[in-house]
Amino acid sequence: MSSQLTAMVALLALTLTLLLAAASEASKVAGLHRIAINRSPKFQRSQKAVVAERDLVQRKYSRQSLSQDLSYPVEPLSNYNNYQYYGNISIGTPPQYFLVQFDTGSSNLWIPSVSCTSGGCADHQTYNQSASSTYQANGTYFTITYGTGSVSGYLSVDSVSVGGLNVSNQKFGQVSTEVGTNFVDAMFDGILGMAFPALAADGVVPVFQNMISQGLVVNSVFSFYLRDQGTTLNGGELILGGSDPSLYRGGLTYVPVSLPAYWQFITDSIKIGSTVVSVGDAAIADTGTSLIIAPLAEFDSIAAIFSADSNGVFYCTSTRSMPDLVITIQGVEFRISASYYVEQEGSTCQLLIQSINQDFWILGDVFLGRFYTEFDVGNQRLGFAPVNGAFSLSEMGLWKVLGLAITWGLWRWKN
Ligand SMILES: *[C@@H]1O[C@H](CO)[C@@H](O)[C@H](O)[C@H]1NC(C)=O
Ligand SMILES: *[C@@H]1O[C@H](CO)[C@@H](O)[C@H](O)[C@H]1NC(C)=O
Ligand SMILES: *[C@@H]1O[C@H](CO)[C@@H](O)[C@H](O)[C@H]1NC(C)=O
Ligand SMILES: *[C@@H]1O[C@H](CO)[C@@H](O)[C@H](O)[C@H]1NC(C)=O
Repeated sequence: MSSQLTAMVALLALTLTLLLAAASEASKVAGLHRIAINRSPKFQRSQKAVVAERDLVQRKYSRQSLSQDLSYPVEPLSNYNNYQYYGNISIGTPPQYFLVQFDTGSSNLWIPSVSCTSGGCADHQTYNQSASSTYQANGTYFTITYGTGSVSGYLSVDSVSVGGLNVSNQKFGQVSTEVGTNFVDAMFDGILGMAFPALAADGVVPVFQNMISQGLVVNSVFSFYLRDQGTTLNGGELILGGSDPSLYRGGLTYVPVSLPAYWQFITDSIKIGSTVVSVGDAAIADTGTSLIIAPLAEFDSIAAIFSADSNGVFYCTSTRSMPDLVITIQGVEFRISASYYVEQEGSTCQLLIQSINQDFWILGDVFLGRFYTEFDVGNQRLGFAPVNGAFSLSEMGLWKVLGLAITWGLWRWKN
């Protein structure tokens, strides 16, 4: 080996060591607890799936407004192969593991019980209270109705562990009967609601509120990073206790929560290209939904721009010439290109902006997948920033860094 080559190899090794150290340093922001988010491997957008999901969102939102009067727990259950971002939590001592959908559009924790003999429960992890030393009975009966069926069971109390944070005395719904549902198809076992207590059925304190009162998080903030083109095992992260600035570009744009039930805020305006569709509309950040849902009149205006039918379907050649969807929040424009809000199948396109009979917008993954979102419970505000598209070193993996370094080294050597 020539001395020149030896020096180069040494330099490369040093650079690599420094790069890796920096990468691992950056990923360790103090006080943050991370939960990997998985994505349904079955996810595939089709016209049928989009319409089915829209109908599901409709039931979710109409039921929740009813639930205030009827006082029974109401939870959505995504039956279809939509995005279904979910993660691993445990309940009980020793821990029993469950995959739950982290849903900022509802406020209760819900899991199937081992006593449930229905088909939907058979395919999922079930909670066995007899196997947990920290289980406490509550017994309040509840029924959850959705779509074509219902689930029912009783409230229970146990330790719930999320991202290494152990919440004691968490009240949750244990489902013992499930009738006429498509629960069988869900990739996750239950739902962990992350909206405000006002939405929680039976006055149950939500998991994150217990984390705050039990002093488990330094900051009363959680945030979602939903990875673009996320895979089953690498769909993104739910971060408890703060935000990780390496996952977004620039600063967060904060907007106050206008009504602390859903994560609701007021938009300045919403445009398609330069065509103003709405001014001053309310919107909700909902991680339990993959679509964007517009109020009816606003949807009609958007559909008219594309000559789309009531399901948002229209003839198209390419999404490339279509205008951006521009949502302005606190004077800052959040742009989503058409390739993200329009799904193309051959010469047919479909808007991933749909409508239910509702006077606010619901921003699901089509929006949240583009913008890192901080849910600041303590200050009752939301923060948004574009997700960091540039891949971080820690994400690239050692072999890619090595590969790049060697390629660079060879290039330097030859030149
Ligand atoms: C959840 O995490 C536990 C502990 O790491 C693991 O044993 C279990 O397999 C995980 N469950 C799933 C479905 O990934
Ligand atoms: C539930 O746990 C108890 C205690 O560990 C055990 O005896 C019982 O078999 C379990 N039930 C089921 C259905 O696994
Ligand atoms: C069960 O939980 C409900 C709802 O939070 C509460 O009103 C009730 O007092 C609890 N019952 C018992 C026996 O702890
Ligand atoms: C959670 O906390 C309870 C009560 O302090 C403890 O008994 C249990 O072992 C803990 N569970 C986990 C999974 O750390």
